[in-house]
Amino acid sequence: MEKREFLRFLAASPLLAARPGMAQDDLLYRTLASITDLDPGLPRELASVAGVYELEQVAQRVLPPAHFGYIYSGAGNGESKQANRDAFARYDIQPRRLQGIDSASLETEVFGEAWQSPLFLSPTNGHRAFHPLGEIASAQGASAAGVTQMLSSLTNTPVEEVNRVKSDKATWFQLYPTNDEAIRYELVQRAEAAGCPAIVVTVDDIGGRGSEISAAYYNSDPRDCTLCHQRQLGIPDFLQRKAMFQDYKDLPGFSIDANAMTFDDIARLREQVKGRLIVKGIMHPVDALECHLAGADGIVVSNHGGRVDSGGLGTFDALPGIVEAVQGRMLVMLDGGVRRGTDVFKALALGADAVGFGRPYLWGLAAYGAAGVQRSVELVENELRRAMIQAGVSRIADISGTQLLAD
Ligand SMILES: Cc1cc2nc3c(=O)[nH]c(=O)nc-3n(C[C@H](O)[C@H](O)[C@H](O)COP(=O)(O)O)c2cc1C
Repeated sequence: MEKREFLRFLAASPLLAARPGMAQDDLLYRTLASITDLDPGLPRELASVAGVYELEQVAQRVLPPAHFGYIYSGAGNGESKQANRDAFARYDIQPRRLQGIDSASLETEVFGEAWQSPLFLSPTNGHRAFHPLGEIASAQGASAAGVTQMLSSLTNTPVEEVNRVKSDKATWFQLYPTNDEAIRYELVQRAEAAGCPAIVVTVDDIGGRGSEISAAYYNSDPRDCTLCHQRQLGIPDFLQRKAMFQDYKDLPGFSIDANAMTFDDIARLREQVKGRLIVKGIMHPVDALECHLAGADGIVVSNHGGRVDSGGLGTFDALPGIVEAVQGRMLVMLDGGVRRGTDVFKALALGADAVGFGRPYLWGLAAYGAAGVQRSVELVENELRRAMIQAGVSRIADISGTQLLAD
């Protein structure tokens, strides 16, 4: 029997049907033991992982090429994704000596609530593509790490179930606004009923996407992707397993894209949202001000990790102009290319109130499940603590632009 036929046979087997998802799991997830046996250079134990790029190495070997490539890829040839990293490299932290500082506290405040650190998990979709427990594992990891998790509206697990496993605080719900205003508000109401104290509306996923990188990984994947992904007109039907869209996915004309949105939509959304409203994907000072005027409580300076636009502007480069325009009138968060505690330090120094990352905790999730998510946060937090002591500051509030030198 051909390999593909055999896989189809496996997927259709009644034995496997008795355990939903198992056939896919067997095809998707390799165990860590099997890859460390093959590759002795990889960390065997999570505790020995020294930085988030090691999590990436393990994730690359655990995941099928197309799924790893989905995390890795950036729009075009990765221009904006690379710009996110390059922007951080253009600033250095200037060390101080003999400041008498032997410890640093990461505690900070966001919307009047105490956060144990300024780090948060940016929303990323479809976690079952990376680990069998999907968002349940990432939510448990976020709770263990004590950080706020933004839950993608393209979650595989319904928001109600995710918030139920959160032992500390509910997720913030990321909203793809869709091209249907009524559905938009239904999603908001559902998330709020599930306990989400904030709605994070993503406005940068416009104009369609194209990525040579993603295509190359997909083409290099030997598996038969149609076993899991239905294809309609050649486009993967990615709403198929997205829990929040099951009632809407087959509606004629329905799309999660909302190219036609304007700031008036944000103002109307403001009237619907009972808790905090954050706009994610802002890269221009004027847009930031418009968000404030429309009633937003905050923004995430973000280019979607360089996954949608390929224009080459890094988020850290966009930050100073936006901070200057906002003048402290609303919360300014940032994500994109954050891999190290020093990156977090630099973003805080130039005015960000909180800093998120996406890919690093997905690597942790793929490699080690909930514990890997937790570890990705700890690694960056430990680095941030060390960076603060090097710079002579012991409190987050004391981090400022005077500690940076531009190259
Ligand atoms: C695999 C993947 C899926 C993502 N899915 C979403 C999403 O569903 N909604 C959203 O607003 N942003 C999404 N993003 C963007 C992240 O929220 C975040 O802006 C980005 O990952 C930050 O860059 P970094 O990955 O370099 O840290 C996704 C990013 C990745 C890598």
